[in-house]
Amino acid sequence: MSLIFCIIILLFPPSTAEIAAKPGVNYGQLGNNLPLPSKSVEIIRSLKAGRVKIYDANPKILQALKNTNIQVSVMVPNEQINAIAANQTMADDWIKSNVVPFYPATKIRYLLVGNEILSQPDNVTWFNLVPAMRRIRQSLVRFRLKKIKVGTPLAIDCLEASFPPSSGKFRSGVSESVLTPLLKFIDRTKSFFFIDVYTYFAWISDPINIKLGYALLEPNVSSYTDPVTGLLYTNLLEQMLDALYFAMKRAGYPNTRLFIAETGWPNGGDFDQIGGNIHNAAVYNRNVIKRLTEKPPRGTPLKPAVVLPSFIFALYNENQKTGPGTERNFGLIYPNGSSIYEMDLSGKTSEFKESLPEPTNNEPFKGKIWCVAARGVNKTALGGALSYACGQGNGTCDPIRPGGKCFKPDSLFWHASYAFSSYWAQFRKSGGSCYFNGLAVQTIKNPSFGSCKFPSIML
Ligand SMILES: *[C@@H]1O[C@H](CO)[C@@H](O)[C@H](O)[C@H]1NC(C)=O
Ligand SMILES: *[C@@H]1O[C@H](CO)[C@@H](O)[C@H](O)[C@H]1NC(C)=O
Ligand SMILES: *[C@@H]1O[C@H](CO)[C@@H](O)[C@H](O)[C@H]1NC(C)=O
Ligand SMILES: *[C@@H]1O[C@H](CO)[C@@H](O)[C@H](O)[C@H]1NC(C)=O
Ligand SMILES: *[C@@H]1O[C@H](CO)[C@@H](O)[C@H](O)[C@H]1NC(C)=O
Ligand SMILES: *[C@@H]1O[C@H](CO)[C@@H](O)[C@H](O)[C@H]1NC(C)=O
Repeated sequence: MSLIFCIIILLFPPSTAEIAAKPGVNYGQLGNNLPLPSKSVEIIRSLKAGRVKIYDANPKILQALKNTNIQVSVMVPNEQINAIAANQTMADDWIKSNVVPFYPATKIRYLLVGNEILSQPDNVTWFNLVPAMRRIRQSLVRFRLKKIKVGTPLAIDCLEASFPPSSGKFRSGVSESVLTPLLKFIDRTKSFFFIDVYTYFAWISDPINIKLGYALLEPNVSSYTDPVTGLLYTNLLEQMLDALYFAMKRAGYPNTRLFIAETGWPNGGDFDQIGGNIHNAAVYNRNVIKRLTEKPPRGTPLKPAVVLPSFIFALYNENQKTGPGTERNFGLIYPNGSSIYEMDLSGKTSEFKESLPEPTNNEPFKGKIWCVAARGVNKTALGGALSYACGQGNGTCDPIRPGGKCFKPDSLFWHASYAFSSYWAQFRKSGGSCYFNGLAVQTIKNPSFGSCKFPSIML
């Protein structure tokens, strides 16, 4: 053993209590075209993920992960929380059927109870969250599975103040009733505060004042000094994480360990959205991995040198996610199994071979956008969406009635396209979207034909 190596060991002794960074990936399954679990596990390995998080306890996936070295996080679905909080037998049964059959061959290490519960409108479940976690933990103890940490991933909306980071504070309606008991549970069981954190959403809410490079974790773009603490921030992610550390400190738990349950950047999106492209997604995810795998660990300005374990969101582009187009484009991998850009979650690759496509939508799009029927979709469903769109407004579909200017060509695809454009032009301002369960897509190519003029939105 060389002298230098000995010195390194003395300075940074390997501690059994210390967790490894080992970035992982979120394996969401909201797609009707995704590879099978066995193929997915191959892909997860090729990404060099140290961990994988799933949003249920899908037995086929847990089976496919058997005898791999990948640490696994499973999830109790939101719908079961109230029942489990009320009944220890329910908790025991859940562990018995979803965890016990796979452990220890499948390295289940985290058991997350619910997903972003405090962001759901159903506030009854909010108050059952920690009681359910206690019951799940009790079941794990009963089955001698104490090695599995129990947590719950929350979104950043658990904070009511986050800027400057030193003002970080939990939401008043849940601070004492949910967060304090949660922090106490985490402390007692030596678990983690799991947080879903996206600089992307913070940036799109204020792209004028927040520099894109600051949100993408690009070095030397800009910096921000917290006026209260004097701490210097060089990227938006550490700023957001410190807001959470300050909130935990304010709640009396300054030493709680953080686990990034989700972070990522979309590789695509709709024409009326900005910044979702392959270039930005690759830059962000590579920068995150680089920082989270630094040795010695980088931590944050408030908590230097702490290890931040993480899961990147997400493995696949998921075509059945609702909401704006970016939601369906967070993947590292296309549903056909090919990668969207090169990625190495272990952080061991610093130079990638292929150059990235130039971003074209980092500035808001200027011009007209239409909403038309997507190609090759279910005709019955398309007919239903056409009736729905026409049933909403006043005269939305008059031009596609017999004799109207847009009646011809008399096809379902054409009529639905007109109806979607007309609906969206009327209702976008009040929250209407161009989605219709995946039956509609935005276009910047004017679909109008002859004397038929399609309504559009103008950005
Ligand atoms: C708890 O759940 C078990 C299993 O579903 C059920 O048999 C039992 O009646 C429940 N107990 C109560 C008090 O609801
Ligand atoms: C829960 O939601 C209901 C209905 O929206 C509301 O009336 C009530 O005040 C809420 N309770 C808490 C504790 O937030
Ligand atoms: C950023 O700044 C640091 C310190 O000033 C410097 O060492 C580093 O080379 C710079 N990096 C880039 C990419 O310009
Ligand atoms: C996989 O899908 C993407 C996106 O649709 C496409 O660009 C790519 O060519 C496909 N790759 C293969 C091998 O089919
Ligand atoms: C098409 O959509 C209809 C109505 O939404 C549904 O009942 C039917 O099962 C779908 N067909 C296929 C092949 O998915
Ligand atoms: C439809 O027209 C009526 C009467 O002109 C008006 O009161 C109503 O607000 C309109 N509704 C929409 C959705 O435009």
